[in-house]
Amino acid sequence: MPRDPVTISLTTFEESTHMDVGAPSPFSSDVTHSTLSEPTEQPTMDALVIRGGRKLSGRVEISGAKNAALPVMAATLLAPGVHTLRNVPLLSDTRTMARVLEQLGARVEFRGHACKIDTSRIMSFEAPYDLVRTMRASIYVLGPLLARFGAARVSLPGGCAWGPRPVNLHLEGLKAMGAALEIEHGYIAGKDVELHGADISFENVSVGATAQLMMAATLASGTTVLDNVALEPDVTVLGQVLIGCGARIEGLGSRRLTIHGVRELHPVDTTIIPDRIEAATLLAAGAITGGSITLEQCDAGHLAAVMHHLEDAGCDVLPGNGEVTLSGPTRPSALEITTAPFPGFPTDMQAQMMALCSIADGVSAITDTIYLDRFTHVPELQRLGAQIELKGNTALIRGVDRLQGAPVMATDIRASAALVIAALIAEGETRISRIYHLDRGYEQLEQKLRSLGADIERISE
Ligand code: UD1
Repeated sequence: MPRDPVTISLTTFEESTHMDVGAPSPFSSDVTHSTLSEPTEQPTMDALVIRGGRKLSGRVEISGAKNAALPVMAATLLAPGVHTLRNVPLLSDTRTMARVLEQLGARVEFRGHACKIDTSRIMSFEAPYDLVRTMRASIYVLGPLLARFGAARVSLPGGCAWGPRPVNLHLEGLKAMGAALEIEHGYIAGKDVELHGADISFENVSVGATAQLMMAATLASGTTVLDNVALEPDVTVLGQVLIGCGARIEGLGSRRLTIHGVRELHPVDTTIIPDRIEAATLLAAGAITGGSITLEQCDAGHLAAVMHHLEDAGCDVLPGNGEVTLSGPTRPSALEITTAPFPGFPTDMQAQMMALCSIADGVSAITDTIYLDRFTHVPELQRLGAQIELKGNTALIRGVDRLQGAPVMATDIRASAALVIAALIAEGETRISRIYHLDRGYEQLEQKLRSLGADIERISE
């Protein structure tokens, strides 16, 4: 199997230090952010205070996509050298991924939104529980570590706020490619792994498993065929980045990928795509206030399912060149939404659309087929006066004339965004606690909303 020349046993690496600080830096001296120089991040106890009732208007820029940046950051482990990723959103999740990479021995430096990652000297194969539990996407380092070094020890991510989120498809796929993985003390562990090509058909469309196995297959010996893969832009873009590193991948954009393993990959200079979920969240925010907003630097092609439902709600939505303009209705119409893998309606937007439906004219139904229990936002929206009844994985939302501000609590990234959207229309003041969830996935959301005219401020609790 093709192997990176640096092959050291797992035990040796576990005992080693994390980073060769004496090595000459390939990075510019003009560095504004180095993750290692920061103290370990603690969740801030900040809250958002929003006084609702203002129509949003104006223009705002969309940041780079979190869900594209995270796997691409992990993929840099496949190719030794200095990678440059541009338009990386500055979020606690991208900082966590930087820490995971640093833990392994990579050097990571941010200069604005440009992130340089030097993966020349990987000195550990362990992604520890303390990092993985704060961000499940840390598991993306598993495939690259096994592919390049034949060894990895990565904490199992565990469940999340809205229930179990299995990784069996990742593990079964890697096993089919020859990785004898053990679960020991809560960690997925493999050593002396020599990955080979395999034919793998996913029983579910999985963004995570597609990305994981695509990365692993790039350096495996022989050819891997992945069937029923995810088509999310984050996955397609990861494939394009890997091709930029020298990978041989056929079928990008279709449900079948054929990956011919190569001996080695080289570093890449790439720009992260715009965040379609941030864009869709801001569109929902504009819609609920009956405002008129334009999103800049976004890709309308990634937003079709959301734009279609916003139009059904009565919004005028106009895609332009790298822009989308939305004008909201006086009152939105009720919607029927069912989440599905891309190009279907994203599970990452159902909570925000539920906020919109809470003041719609009529009864809406939102069904989540990806995560059947992803409804932690429901009781919090009810605190604002929303009338929502849960029937299995369907929420029935009887639109009310008005929401009222109240103290509420954020429970995960998208649930938090739903509360922000609801608060923008709620009468009086809404105080949203635990917004460290929001900070994981939205870059400067309150600044962006304030620039559009929202009455929103961040306070320390
Ligand atoms: C999913 C979403 C993604 C979203 C992310 C965070 C889809 C297809 N994926 O990605 O858009 O950004 O949540 O909200 O909409 N599954 C297994 N075994 C596995 C992996 C997944 O059974 O090993 C199941 C999951 O339980 C889920 C479905 O497959 O029902 C899709 O999972 P997957 O796409 O992998 O989840 P994420 O990568 O978290």
